[in-house]
Amino acid sequence: MAQPTPHFADLLTQHRPGYGLPQPFYTSSDIFEADLDAIWYRDWLYAVPACQLDKSGTFQRLKIGAYDVIVLRDSKGEISAFHNSCRHRGSVLCSAAQGRVAKLTCPYHQWTYDLDGRLLWARDMGQDFDPSAHALKPVHCRTVAGLVYICLADVAPDLDGFADAVSPYLGVHDLSNAKVAFQSTITEKGNWKLVWENNRECYHCSGNHPDLCRTYPEDPSITGVAQGGLFPEKVENHFNRLEGAGVPSRFKMGEDGQYRVARMPLLDGAESYTINGKIAVQKRLGQVPFLDAGTLLMFSYPATWNHFLTDHSITFRVTPIGPQETQVQTTWLVNKDAVEGVDYDLKNLTTVWEHTNDEDRHVVENNQAGINSPAYDPGPYSPLHEDGVIQFVNWYLDRMRAIHLPATLAAE
Ligand code: FES
Ligand SMILES: [Fe+2]
Repeated sequence: MAQPTPHFADLLTQHRPGYGLPQPFYTSSDIFEADLDAIWYRDWLYAVPACQLDKSGTFQRLKIGAYDVIVLRDSKGEISAFHNSCRHRGSVLCSAAQGRVAKLTCPYHQWTYDLDGRLLWARDMGQDFDPSAHALKPVHCRTVAGLVYICLADVAPDLDGFADAVSPYLGVHDLSNAKVAFQSTITEKGNWKLVWENNRECYHCSGNHPDLCRTYPEDPSITGVAQGGLFPEKVENHFNRLEGAGVPSRFKMGEDGQYRVARMPLLDGAESYTINGKIAVQKRLGQVPFLDAGTLLMFSYPATWNHFLTDHSITFRVTPIGPQETQVQTTWLVNKDAVEGVDYDLKNLTTVWEHTNDEDRHVVENNQAGINSPAYDPGPYSPLHEDGVIQFVNWYLDRMRAIHLPATLAAE
């Protein structure tokens, strides 16, 4: 296990509720390693939309901390994941970020693996060599309503509770009939927790997101976590209208706060994240019966937040790169039969979130730069606008305390 900073236990016990985290949580390489160890190497992580692995042999490579993983679809149509390390002398098997292969052949000595991980061929290894003992090492992998999740732990935590809770919400979006219209990958010079803190509030929206604010409300009852489970009448009416039409929409959060789903209205009957508020894709993805059904918001810590709209869906994948560096990949999904230039204009589809991502990168990098000053002193979160941030920070601290503090302290 990574050895955290000497005062890590003190930092975990002395955190002032409702306030930001002390500087080392955003800057220390020891705490970054502790985050990887306690969270990223243990939890289920969103990897890729299943539709992106549309044919046998299509693969996506993912790096999470020290791990290098290949997620791929095999010849039977199953999606699985393997460690990207040859069972001979450990070479990386796939050096491309993504692609399609018939078999996995190691570039070093050409050991060759089938798409299900079995070792098929290894030259001159002697009579006693047992290929079946040298299959690729599997990584836990499950598909939930069209979204592929992986887990690096030896024993994966339960995913059934999450899968059972969110699948009805996602089902109506029909992600198995989606295709990737566009994918962007940006690097933000900020700690992964700052990326999440920024995502979990819209206190910053009016000052930073002119395009997003055309359609996305900064109303904290919509963007927050509804402490107490109460919503204003207009949101209740929205839930009731959709649930009455068979579209699961009501706010739901996992017991430990690791995930949340809620279908929230957009501003003034807007339909989608476009500059004019109208749908971006005429051949819609999913069967939501009303164009103004808003956006199904789903996050599952630590690796993804999502917007599922009535015409298309957008998934976001967070990857920690270093104490002050995080990658955010955004994937726009549309109906697999929608034709670019006919059913949708790619710029119209992607502009709002391309701009929003860039604006978020800017504020996160500024946030990190300011925190790096010795003068940084954690300030209070707005209880009205930043309850989502408080929820995230509490989830994070609970996890870290459970793993890094003696049981007596963690229970307090
Ligand atoms: S390290 Fe892969 S074949 Fe030798
Ligand atoms: Fe933002």
